Amino acid sequence: MSETNHLSLKKSLDLVLKSATEELNQIQSYEQLMVQKSRFLGKKGPLSELFKTLGRLSFEEKSLQGKEINLIKEELESLFQKKQYELEEQTLHRQLAQTYIDITRPSRSAWQGTLHPLTQTMQQMVEIFTELGFAIATGPEIEHDFYNFEALNFPPAHPAREMQDTFFINEQTLLRTHTSPVQIRTLLKHKPPLRIICPGKVYRKDADVTHSPMFHQIEGLWVDKHTSMADLKGVLQTFAKKMFGEHTRIRLRPSFFPFVEPGAEVDVSCLFCQGHGCRLCKHTGFIEILGAGMVHPHIFKAVSYPKEMRGFAFGMGVERIAMLLYGIDDIRLFFESETRFLGQFVSSLPMTLETESVLDKDVL
Ligand code: DAH
Repeated sequence: MSETNHLSLKKSLDLVLKSATEELNQIQSYEQLMVQKSRFLGKKGPLSELFKTLGRLSFEEKSLQGKEINLIKEELESLFQKKQYELEEQTLHRQLAQTYIDITRPSRSAWQGTLHPLTQTMQQMVEIFTELGFAIATGPEIEHDFYNFEALNFPPAHPAREMQDTFFINEQTLLRTHTSPVQIRTLLKHKPPLRIICPGKVYRKDADVTHSPMFHQIEGLWVDKHTSMADLKGVLQTFAKKMFGEHTRIRLRPSFFPFVEPGAEVDVSCLFCQGHGCRLCKHTGFIEILGAGMVHPHIFKAVSYPKEMRGFAFGMGVERIAMLLYGIDDIRLFFESETRFLGQFVSSLPMTLETESVLDKDVL
């Protein structure tokens, strides 16, 4: 390589580096940077021009000088890259300053939702009965008159229907007034013996501080050759102790439901005064929580079960149990989506899809 040739290349490269560095120091914006970058490193830039002059040189000189040009090219590229990072950081800081975000402040703690108190209560109840060997069965909320009333021994126009006034879709179809129709659906589908609970939504034309047009019930049914009133009492006593505490006692009072004979209203000893008598239990020492009884022979007849079959059934409102458990005096609080109320019921149950779906799944 001739000395003069080499010297002039070195000079040109120094010049390019010097003027690029000067330009870079002046640059204020990303747009300016892009313009200068293509000016120095683009196809028509000084380095490309220098590369073009190599064509006339010998092989050795070409490779030597080519290397030198490439070194400067790489240096320029890294200078432009560095400037680009600088500008990007400046822009970010400017944007952060504009939105008044103080990135040094501690973050707000994450807000975690909880299962609705009724879902929690329902799951607790379902768990107690599944431990006692009950399977879960479900049925539709829009129900046929046959399952909701007729097969349950409520003949058309029977006065017992009046207590369960509801929303009719047409003459034969209605929003179910209780979970008892699931008894009929299950008895028609399955052979005895069986032991089921049916959790779900029910509807009635009722609205005040203790009644809601939509509410929840859990129905129970145990059918076998030798089930008796004593078994019913045993199951309900176990349930009451597990739900309300070991000291809880139950009391059965005769009552009427068309689908049971004998029928009973079941009370638990008052949770607030332990049965001594207070304002909440109207000084009786007991609070009513559910209806129950021995399955009426008419039910077994309606589903063509053997005559010698015996069974007991019970049905209870989930809202009523939750209100007693948590000392809530207005049922509407459950349905107002007020997070100050709902947020108080931090769930001890894991919020997995599995625990949520257990109430919707027919596992019989
Ligand atoms: N279905 C009744 C109601 O909603 C409650 C009930 C009472 C269910 C007695 C039963 C029972 O299974 O045996 O008022």
